[in-house]
Amino acid sequence: MQYAEITGWGKCLPPAILTNEDIAKHVDTSDEWITSRTGIKERRISHVGTAELAALAAKRAIAAAGIDPTEIELVALATSTPDMLVPNSASKVQNLIGAKNAAAVDMNSACTGFLYALQSATAQVRMGAVKKAVVIGAERMSWFVNWSQRESAVLFGDGAGAVVIEATDKPLGLLNAKLGCDSEARDILQVQGFGTEIDRYDNPAAALNIQFIGKEIFKRAVRGMGQGANTVMEQANIKASDINLLVPHQANLRIIAALQKQFELSDEQVMVNIHNYGNTSAATVAIALCEAVENGRIKPGDNIMTAAFGAGLTWGAGYIKWGDRITPVNTCDDSLPASDKSALELLSNAMTYCLNKA
Ligand code: UT7
Repeated sequence: MQYAEITGWGKCLPPAILTNEDIAKHVDTSDEWITSRTGIKERRISHVGTAELAALAAKRAIAAAGIDPTEIELVALATSTPDMLVPNSASKVQNLIGAKNAAAVDMNSACTGFLYALQSATAQVRMGAVKKAVVIGAERMSWFVNWSQRESAVLFGDGAGAVVIEATDKPLGLLNAKLGCDSEARDILQVQGFGTEIDRYDNPAAALNIQFIGKEIFKRAVRGMGQGANTVMEQANIKASDINLLVPHQANLRIIAALQKQFELSDEQVMVNIHNYGNTSAATVAIALCEAVENGRIKPGDNIMTAAFGAGLTWGAGYIKWGDRITPVNTCDDSLPASDKSALELLSNAMTYCLNKA
């Protein structure tokens, strides 16, 4: 029997920090509201496209795994903010990281995307189709944000996280997953104004519009993540008390707290970094997983539960058995191209446009 061990991890957070106070200078909101309702204190704003964020996270994961990029046979990129429609962003990542022997695919399941991509890549390794893959969650969510919609504008940030998975005969890596889609609610979280649904000749300059019914998403998120995790625990024959670390999607601290309560987990058993990065959609779980290893929160042999939800409404949970590696084999010294712009400077056109149109 083949399994797919996680042998490398990496993340890329762009340097420009947007605090709640920064947003409150332009939008009718406050640090108090954002912190108490979401747990978010600040988020990152990227000066580069999604593929560059993804590529740096992938390079760092590949260095941590101590392998050569040419050994990678699959680049699976979860994103809903690709650089362009065609070609896919995974092909740019493949090029930037020098994984010239790899297939390259973008997957869009919104915030659940990394888990969907990890499950799919793991299945390919387990069936023997590929031996080594890099799985990335990367987003430039700031590109979507409508600054006149305060309920969603304060939530999102940019970033990327990646893991390398490698074939092994030991029962390690993503051992069980349950993925689903609550499609009757697909209209409660949408980015409208782009795609074959619209007549682009009738409406050539259609502006993107975010449809977002936060309260309804919140309820369905708690339900979907909880049900997913319960199913996975049944499949894996483990109990909540066997979980060493829950690595949930970082959308709202109150959603994470509801899961923590449901499974009676201590604070030490739950990975939370939403205060620093906000909701980076498909990247949250990958960044949180990476940061958990970096911060010594994962030990050899740990049982890790991950759970996520996103537009679709896609949802899912996965049980990961960690292997022996908790320190990187190598490190990668590459960095993003330098930028001297503050987050507010990077967003100035977007904010002016959205707030003037409102
Ligand atoms: O990962 C997938 C995407 N993530 C999500 O969809 C997140 C899921 N939803 C949520 O996290 C929460 O529903 C939100 C954080 C979005 C909103 O929290 P809430 O507790 O559900 O607030 P609400 O929508 O019920 O709004 C409560 C009040 C309203 O004012 P009134 O009607 O009580 O006077 C809103 O107008 O808070 C107001 N409000 C704000 N006030 C200051 C909404 N957004 C803001 C804001 N700043 N940014």
